[in-house]
Amino acid sequence: MHATSPAQPLTSSRTQNPLTGVAVIPGDKSISHRALMFGGLAVGETVITGLLEGEDVLNTAQAMRAMGAFIEKGSDGLWRCRGVGVGGLHEPSQILDMGNSGTSTRLLMGLVAGHNMTALFTGDASLIKRPMARVMKPLEMMGARFMSRDGGRLPLAMTGTDRILPIEYTLPVASAQVKSAILLAGLSARGVTSVIETKPTRDHSENMLRHFGVRVDVEDLDNGAQCVRVHGQQEMVGAHVTVPSDPSSAAFPAVAALLNAGSDIRLNNIGMNPRRTGVYQTLIDMGGDIRFENQRIQGGEPVADIIITGRHQLRGIDVPVERVPSMIDEFPILACAAACAEGITRMTGLEELRVKESDRLLMIAQGLSACGVKLEMGESDLTIYGTGTPPEGGVTIATALDHRIAMSFLVLGTVTRAPITVDDGSPIATSFPDFLPLMKKLGAHIS
Ligand code: S3P
Repeated sequence: MHATSPAQPLTSSRTQNPLTGVAVIPGDKSISHRALMFGGLAVGETVITGLLEGEDVLNTAQAMRAMGAFIEKGSDGLWRCRGVGVGGLHEPSQILDMGNSGTSTRLLMGLVAGHNMTALFTGDASLIKRPMARVMKPLEMMGARFMSRDGGRLPLAMTGTDRILPIEYTLPVASAQVKSAILLAGLSARGVTSVIETKPTRDHSENMLRHFGVRVDVEDLDNGAQCVRVHGQQEMVGAHVTVPSDPSSAAFPAVAALLNAGSDIRLNNIGMNPRRTGVYQTLIDMGGDIRFENQRIQGGEPVADIIITGRHQLRGIDVPVERVPSMIDEFPILACAAACAEGITRMTGLEELRVKESDRLLMIAQGLSACGVKLEMGESDLTIYGTGTPPEGGVTIATALDHRIAMSFLVLGTVTRAPITVDDGSPIATSFPDFLPLMKKLGAHIS
């Protein structure tokens, strides 16, 4: 997403018929980023099936190319990488513009840290507001140097070192991006780099590093925390990566089907990593009819086909706080579901929502209030008073360059009495380029 892209308002109106059909959800965004980064490092050829071709992931591809990796999509639809070897990235000659993508920025900062070179990072109006100090601090401890805008914001310049030091670091925030940045810097370090996390976050980096031949150990500590250790200066070997469909993207049509009575949809091949699927358990706890079929392991990650029927009225619940990291990106769509449920939904431990693509807690609360939903927002919590009927709607929602805010309110607009417009749907292309045709094919009215 670039500041110069024209805003693209989209309007969603109440569906006439239930949603039906089979939808092909695009590849997982987190896994796609990592496949390109690791493929761009590993010696030999990496072949990627099912890569998400969203703007965020394409920005990662572009940055890895700018640092010397070969990455191309073949006429057969497969993506192929030939990597430079651990420690072999080249200094990029131009500023790396990461668009809207926090994952690209933070993970690539980790990679750059272990190289004797300088790189400059910038991004769009959303990304330049997001905190980078959480990554800068541990990477500085490892030996990288930074110059950034006040508060650790982009644009920033960093200089890495080929003498990066292994550290042991306890994550002060539950963040897979910070964990991954440290582990990726640790790939170049002489020795073992350890990251301790008290709240388990997505473990795609750990899983995929192993898939590329790197030794990664995970130890359960006595206090319930986990320690992830990466052994540095090992060769990474090219691999075949099969990217499952993104459970975070699948949550949008899934909630649309739950809210539209009589719907019956099927979403195949969805990633079921337990550190990603909290929203499905929560929707089931709310009374949603969600079934998992063909549960299997594919490319080292669990996947399943999901069948969702709009059979039952959803009920409000208290979302367990320990579940938050496993559904961190799904609170906008969950809040829209809660707005249509009967009873009170309480969500706590949401402080990280303040620093996503937008201040998501605020955008959710403002948007739902404008739609006529009664709610209370605290610094890190949200309580929604559902009445059992969809809210009024009939408003234009500010999306603040946040793809998930845009998609969530378009889903809500399929059931509100009056249509919902989002002021700019263009950021949807960062993670779910086919959202519109897919939703229309299922029976939604969005234009
Ligand atoms: C991601 C981690 C999460 C998530 C983001 C993707 C990743 O961010 O919100 O969409 O791929 O590692 P945080 O690490 O900031 O929680």
